[in-house]
Amino acid sequence: MIEKGLNQQDILNILEEKLKSDHCYESGQILGSMCTDPLAFGKKVYLKYMHKNLGDPGLFPSTAKLEDELISEIGELYHGKNIIGTFTTGGSEANIIAMRIAKKLRPDIKKPEIIVPASAHASFDKGEDFLGLKIQKANLKDNFELDLEHYESLINKNTCGVVGIAGTTSLGLIDPIEKIGKLVEGKNIFFHVDAAFGGFMLPFLKELGYDIPKWDFAVKSVSSITSDPHKMGLGIIPTGGFLIRDPSVLHKTGFEIPYLAGGGFKHFHIVGTRPGGTVISFWAIMRLLGMEGYKKIVKECMESTEYLEKRIAEIDGVKLAVKPKMNIVGLTTENGESICEIDDKLREKKWMLGKFLDYNLIRIVIMPHVTQNHLSRFCNDLEEIIMKHDR
Ligand SMILES: Cc1ncc(COP(=O)(O)O)c(C=O)c1O
Repeated sequence: MIEKGLNQQDILNILEEKLKSDHCYESGQILGSMCTDPLAFGKKVYLKYMHKNLGDPGLFPSTAKLEDELISEIGELYHGKNIIGTFTTGGSEANIIAMRIAKKLRPDIKKPEIIVPASAHASFDKGEDFLGLKIQKANLKDNFELDLEHYESLINKNTCGVVGIAGTTSLGLIDPIEKIGKLVEGKNIFFHVDAAFGGFMLPFLKELGYDIPKWDFAVKSVSSITSDPHKMGLGIIPTGGFLIRDPSVLHKTGFEIPYLAGGGFKHFHIVGTRPGGTVISFWAIMRLLGMEGYKKIVKECMESTEYLEKRIAEIDGVKLAVKPKMNIVGLTTENGESICEIDDKLREKKWMLGKFLDYNLIRIVIMPHVTQNHLSRFCNDLEEIIMKHDR
């Protein structure tokens, strides 16, 4: 700890220097992240309200009401009525909250299990560890889609919850949510949909005329949904979202903290103190963009995705793992060789992609900060790397 404080400008200069190795969204080289630069207006609103603490909502009742309103509005977008829920630190927290609820609702099961597709996000492995329950992973088929027969075979008397994904982390695929719903109908099994990424893509893709299967509260056995504003919602990092159909679950499974200045309240969170500013900011973002604004952003991302698809088809040596369903593109080698060397070379040129070793693919997420110009430069570098590699 320094003895005497520095002046503000000196501190800012030091920070500039210390943070210079960070990648930035504007470069277009962050190609493998599901986050992006939050909307400028959202940042402005956040700065104004970042002191609000939703960990003690009795002190900030108007912010708490705004949160409820916003959750209910997003719930309606997902074909639900009077949906409740909460904003979280991200999709991981939301998924772990869902797993805990699934376990809590079935105290009769001594060794609770949750079934997830093999493509499920790592947060489910974390949840397994934290919550002392078992996750059963259902296989994928060769085309990376869920093997529903195997999924069904995993359902047994210990199953307290099942999970479907609407926008997988690796490839943006949508699990057959309606079919999973049928498997658990009337069985007292909690059905969680992880739409951490898809939640702010799918409603707009549908409006734009894309063929999107039912994935949300329109499927009557869906119990809860994860959907993250800090991904395609363009919200402040971190803002995740958890929505649940049955409000009585909060009273049955919620935690209570008795000592708070604002009074006790029931909540689902893992964290205590949590930002109100991110929620207020997202309320403002949704009002600024509206359906039209989000549709425009999603349309541009999809046009860039289609551009990338075409360019990749022209490059010998790599191919798409599957035809993209949303703005996520998986690349693999044409001859089955490891993709790792190509990824290493791309990193040397500062192209930062996601790598999925199980599937031998690298992933590009065409977020709003990625333009066709960036993708064109990326494809030129990729082509050059492959040509050198083949020589
Ligand atoms: C489908 C899915 N679920 C959950 C998460 C976890 O979200 P977060 O990183 O916000 O915790 C991700 C992150 O990429 C994801 O793709």
